[in-house]
Amino acid sequence: MEGGGLPEGFTAAPNDLESHWMPFTWNRQFKHAPKLIAGAEGMTYYTHDGRELLDGTAGLWCVNAGHNRDRIVRAVQEQVATLDYAPSFQLGHPLAFQLANQLVEMAPHGAFDHAFFANSGSEAVDSALKIALAYHRANGEGQRTRLIGRERGYHGVGFGGISVGGIVNNRRVFTELPGTDHLRHTYAPEHQAFSRGQPEWGAHLAEDLERLCALHGGETIAAVIVEPIAGSTGVLIPPQGYLERLREICDRHGILLIFDEVITGFGRLGSSFAAEHFGVTPDIITLAKGLTNGTVPMGAVLTRKGIYDTVTGAAEAAGGTIELFHGYTYSGHPLACAAALASLEVYKEEGLFGNAAMLARHWEDALHALHGTAHVKDLRNLGIIAGIELEPRPGAPGKRGYEAFTRAWENGLLIRVTGDIIALSPPLILEERHIDRMMQTLKDTLEAVD
Ligand SMILES: Cc1ncc(COP(=O)(O)O)c(C=O)c1O
Repeated sequence: MEGGGLPEGFTAAPNDLESHWMPFTWNRQFKHAPKLIAGAEGMTYYTHDGRELLDGTAGLWCVNAGHNRDRIVRAVQEQVATLDYAPSFQLGHPLAFQLANQLVEMAPHGAFDHAFFANSGSEAVDSALKIALAYHRANGEGQRTRLIGRERGYHGVGFGGISVGGIVNNRRVFTELPGTDHLRHTYAPEHQAFSRGQPEWGAHLAEDLERLCALHGGETIAAVIVEPIAGSTGVLIPPQGYLERLREICDRHGILLIFDEVITGFGRLGSSFAAEHFGVTPDIITLAKGLTNGTVPMGAVLTRKGIYDTVTGAAEAAGGTIELFHGYTYSGHPLACAAALASLEVYKEEGLFGNAAMLARHWEDALHALHGTAHVKDLRNLGIIAGIELEPRPGAPGKRGYEAFTRAWENGLLIRVTGDIIALSPPLILEERHIDRMMQTLKDTLEAVD
């Protein structure tokens, strides 16, 4: 085993798994039958007992250039030895400015001019929502305080994110921000099942925003946040024309449109961002995950021309002070910046977004060849993303999905499961042979699932 394999002298599992309260995990079950990952390289993970797993999920939608890439590893190693940390308030370090410039340059349609840094997708979302509110206040529209999300949306786990998010399990135990509401989601299997790419049916669902404007007053709404493709609730591809329609309605009412591109950014659809792929320019974009190839936590918010100038201009007019009372100790952390700059280089030099675009057709064909496989109820895809919805076991939703996850793990394939929906989003270094192996393993796995 080379490079990213198991460390020398590594011995199986830790002795005691109890103290770690694991996130979004069935802890009792995990500790009874642990699944531990101990090493990685390229398209492969290595389990603690030395088995190989084909990574069908780029970790958690983040390792777009594959695992343990030399260039990124070296950049982080060199950075930690040069400048380990620098305060981020009223001080800066060069890499954060360099990275902001590059992100703005990559951003769609030449429309964005600033980047704000956070440490995760959740923080990027909360930062974006706050920036939207600050913008309207600075623009003389302080009455715009309402935030609109969408059913089945996922925007991380901060109180802002769960308030605009639309997943009941993430909301029912926790309180929410006041003044939020939700668009209806866009999934309608009776019209869309087994669509290849964007479903033809459903653009009119964007009109639901008009309903909310009529209900609350469009002039009270600050922002609408959507994932261009909803990933966490099982890969919901936007219907043709839907995002365009949402853009038009936001414009009509002076509402900022936020695209949460935490999973769709950095090549997943064969372009830098989904906004570019769909030809729709939002006002704010949130990023994380692929920004650093998953190596060092980082999130970012890109803002459209005019937003920064409005917020900073208003503060200047009031005598000059800190313009946005928001930020994190680790905003623009030097290691994260080094990892992000190196990741962007790898993406560019290896043409990984182009590779994703080139393989998208093969991916689609291989996925839809699963039509008719045991339990498969729907197949959805775009770029290098796939959703495979299974028929739930009667009276036991989620159990079949969990069994598929475990069996795939045993069969050497890492998949992601939400309830009874499997999501695939492998690293973009993949080749046709990886796609074929992934789909074959999945087919064998599903045929064996009860
Ligand atoms: C669209 C979207 N937004 C936000 C997040 C939250 O990111 P993080 O887990 O880094 O906080 C995720 C995570 O999967 C996501 O998919």
